[in-house]
Amino acid sequence: MTVTVRVPAKVNVQLAVGGARPDGFHDLANVFLAVGLYDEVTVTPADSLRVTCSGPDAGQVPLDRTNLAARAAIALAERHGLSPDVHIHIEKDIPVAGGMAGGSADGAGALLACDRLWGTECSQSELLGMCAELGSDVPFSLVGGAALGTGRGEQLTTLEVGGTFHWVFAVAGGGLSTPAVYGEFDRLTAGSEVPAPEASPVLLEALRAGDAALLAGALVNDLQPAALSLRPSLAATLAAGTEAGALAGLVSGSGPTTAFLTKDAEAAESVAAALIASGTCRTARVAQSPATGATVVGA
Ligand code: C5P
Repeated sequence: MTVTVRVPAKVNVQLAVGGARPDGFHDLANVFLAVGLYDEVTVTPADSLRVTCSGPDAGQVPLDRTNLAARAAIALAERHGLSPDVHIHIEKDIPVAGGMAGGSADGAGALLACDRLWGTECSQSELLGMCAELGSDVPFSLVGGAALGTGRGEQLTTLEVGGTFHWVFAVAGGGLSTPAVYGEFDRLTAGSEVPAPEASPVLLEALRAGDAALLAGALVNDLQPAALSLRPSLAATLAAGTEAGALAGLVSGSGPTTAFLTKDAEAAESVAAALIASGTCRTARVAQSPATGATVVGA
C-alpha cells in the first residue's frame, strides 16, 4: 500500500516578532496564508526508513534524519511502538529554504501519510501536537487556509478569507537560515524595546473581505530588515516587483523568497515575467491563496 499527501506552501502576510524568549524562540503574531504551490509526500512500506526527493531543487533537500518528514515518521512510530520502516518520497515543488515552509510541509505531509499507512488513527489534536513538536510552522502546514499563529507560531486560530488572492513568488538563488535571520533580528533590535506582537485589525479585515488593495497596504514582516541585512540584493528584487505593477511586496517569512500581491491573475503573470526579465531572482512562480492544508490525494 502507498499513501500520497499533498501539502501547500505558505506566505506570512503579517509576521510580528516580539523579543527573544528564555527558550530562544520569539513570541509571534504570525498571520499565515496557505498558497497553491505544493509538495507531494508519498509513503510506502520498506525494510528501513529512507527518504528520496525529486523536483528541480531536489539536490538541496537533506535526505537524512534532519529532514522533517523523516522526523515525523520516527515521532509517530515511537508514539505507537512501531518501527519507522517506510520509504518517504517527496515530490518537491515548494522553494527550498525560502521562507515558504517547504520543510514544514513535508513534516506535516509525512505525519498524515504515515498515520494513514499505519492505521494509527491519530485525532486532529494529536496530529497538531506532534506537528508543533516538529517545528513552529508545521501545524499550519497541516491545516492550511489562513490562520493566526501565536506563541512561537504554533498555536493556531483559523481565519476567514473572503476571496482569492493572487501572488508572485520571486525565488532567490540559495537559501537563508531561519535561526540566522532571527539572530540578525535580535542584533538589529538590541537595546530597543520590542513591542508585544499583535495581529493587525486592518489586515484581518482585508483577509475577511478578500480585499487585495487593503491587504497590500497592511502586509508587514518584522523579519524583513534582518533578511535584507543578510541578503542586501533582495532590495532590488522588491523594487523590481513593485515597479512591474505589484500592489505590494515583502520578504516571505525568513526569506529569501519575496512575495508580491497583485490585483488579479493576469497581473501576476506579467509581474512574474518582469521579475524573471529583471535578473534579480532565480525564477518567479505565480500562485493563488488560500489553499487547503495537508490532504490525502492517493491511497
Ligand atoms: O520552530 P522551528 O524549528 O521551525 O524554528 C527554527 C528556528 O527559528 C528556531 O531554532 C529559532 O532560532 C527560530 N524561531 C524563533 N522564534 C519562533 C520560531 C522560530 O526564534 N517563533
